[in-house]
Amino acid sequence: MKVGVFDSGLGGLTVVSAITEVFNGADIFYVADTAHAPYGQKAPEQILKRCLEITNFLINKHEIEALIVACNTATSAAISYLRENFPTLIVIGTEPGIKPAIEFTKTGNVGVLATPATLKGDKYQLLVNQLSMNKSVRLFEQACPGLVEQIEKGEISSKKTTLMLEDWLKPMSLNSVDTIVLGCTHYPLVNETIKKIMGENINLIDTGCAIAKRLKLLSEDNGHINEGLLNICIYFTGEINTNMVNKIFKTSEQGDKIMIRKYEI
Ligand code: DGL
Repeated sequence: MKVGVFDSGLGGLTVVSAITEVFNGADIFYVADTAHAPYGQKAPEQILKRCLEITNFLINKHEIEALIVACNTATSAAISYLRENFPTLIVIGTEPGIKPAIEFTKTGNVGVLATPATLKGDKYQLLVNQLSMNKSVRLFEQACPGLVEQIEKGEISSKKTTLMLEDWLKPMSLNSVDTIVLGCTHYPLVNETIKKIMGENINLIDTGCAIAKRLKLLSEDNGHINEGLLNICIYFTGEINTNMVNKIFKTSEQGDKIMIRKYEI
């Protein structure tokens, strides 16, 4: 089984890390499109163009059978197009985990942190409209421009990053938000900083595990035998912070099976 995964940078590796927990016997080809990051401040057409270029690269070079768009922003801009145009590929997208957050919250106040493009997208609005019919909750939505850049630099707990987060999280702590949706795959990398600000009991929701389980299910339906080694090859188009890559895979047994290569796409 050959699986392609991509994001604008390091964020999608949080999804790959979750995949390593449940998925075996496959080659994973990851593209960190760092030459074009961040996606979250780009127009949907520009993001769609990059998604197509990366998907074609993964198909032509590696004949992938499954594609994971490990980016909420790219999913919002491109998932329908990718599904329509690559019908033989298993295509899995990433959406903010509003549903589990609504189920979990006790205070009824839920925070959503995401990129400006994700929050502006029709897909997000549709998701919120559908789910808010089930239970009435108050959503505190916050775009976080600049946070992806801080994370790419490895500044996950620096003074500047902490101040940015304190500012964005203030309305949430003042309004007893007990659950925060991490609507960008980069944001689990600042979990600890968010907890320092909001308190250890804050419930932070990301969708890495759900995506990993879905990949396992859909690929097994296609005949995949979930046994054997998992090899991970990471391509990057601009720069990559290898310390952060090591940090993400630090607790994973896959850490020593990763190849990192620069590639122009
Ligand atoms: N990791 C991304 C997401 O989930 C991309 C963020 C960005 O490049 O702005 O949205």
